[in-house]
Amino acid sequence: MPLIQINHLTHFFGGLRAVHDFNTTIEVGELKGLIGPNGAGKTTIFNLVTGVYKPTEGEIIFDGKNIVGKRPNVISTMGIARTFQNLRLWTNMTVMDNVKIAAYSRIKYGLFGAFLGGNSRYEEERMLDQEAEKLLKMLDIEKFKDFKVSNLPYGIQRRVEIARALMVRPKLLLLDEPAAGMSPAEMLEIMDVIRMIQTELNLAIWLIEHRMKMVMELCQHIQVLNFGEVIAEGPPEAIKNNPVVIKAYLGTVVS
Ligand SMILES: Nc1ncnc2c1ncn2[C@@H]1O[C@H](COP(=O)(O)OP(=O)(O)OP(=O)(O)O)[C@@H](O)[C@H]1O
Ligand SMILES: [Mg+2]
Repeated sequence: MPLIQINHLTHFFGGLRAVHDFNTTIEVGELKGLIGPNGAGKTTIFNLVTGVYKPTEGEIIFDGKNIVGKRPNVISTMGIARTFQNLRLWTNMTVMDNVKIAAYSRIKYGLFGAFLGGNSRYEEERMLDQEAEKLLKMLDIEKFKDFKVSNLPYGIQRRVEIARALMVRPKLLLLDEPAAGMSPAEMLEIMDVIRMIQTELNLAIWLIEHRMKMVMELCQHIQVLNFGEVIAEGPPEAIKNNPVVIKAYLGTVVS
C-alpha cells in the first residue's frame, strides 16, 4: 500500500476550479515531483493535503486513513510536514527555537505540565534540545543555532525551515519550491540536503519546484500540472522532451 494515495481530488475557489480530478500515489522512500506553470494549482494541492483547505471532492488516504476534513495540526501529528513557498519562520526567534517550536504539538506534557514543572517536563525539554541539535547538524546549520533567523542568509533560512518540518518526525515531507530565490550554488547545496534527508530518514518527499535541473535530477517520477489538471507524468526523461509539457511552459521562465 502506498504511503499516500490521492483519488479524484478537485477544488474550487468560488467559481475558479484550481484542481481538477488529481490522482497520485507516493511510496515510502520515493521522491516525487510536481511541476507546472504559475497558477497551475500546485500549492493548492499541498494546502488540501495538509488540511488548510477542505477539498470540494476527492479522497486523501494517508497511512491507510482518509484525512479529508482533518485539521492541519492533526494531519501534522499523523506524519505530514511541509515547507512553504514563502518562508514562514519566526524571524525574531533563534534558529534553535524555530526548530523546537514545531515539536510542541506532539509532546506529552500539556499546558498543566508546563505550569507545574516537574521532572518529566525537563526531561522532555532536554530530549527536544537533543533532537533539534541532531537535525541542525544533519542540515549543517548547527553553528547558527543561537542566531536570530532574520540575520541569516536566505539559503540558511530555507534549511531552518526544513529542519523545523523534520522536527515533527514526518513520514511524508512536502517541499514547496525549496530552491526559490536561491543562487545556482545554493541550489546545488539544497539538492544535496534533500538527497541526504531522503536516504538518512527514509522519508517520502513530494517536491514542487520550478528549477528544472533540480526536479530532473532529484525525482524518480514527475507529474506536470496545468490549469489544475495533470497533463503529463512519468520519469524525468519522459517529461523533459514531452511536447505537451514544453508547450505548457512556453512563455514561462525555465532554468
Ligand atoms: N485562497 C485562494 N482563494 C482564491 N483563489 C486562490 C487561492 N489560492 C490560490 N488561488 C488560485 O488558484 C490557482 C492555483 O494557485 P496555486 O497557488 O495553487 O498555484 P501554483 O501552481 O502553486 O502557482 P505558483 O507556481 O505561482 O506558486 C490560481 O489561479 C490562484 O490564483
Ligand atoms: Mg505555488
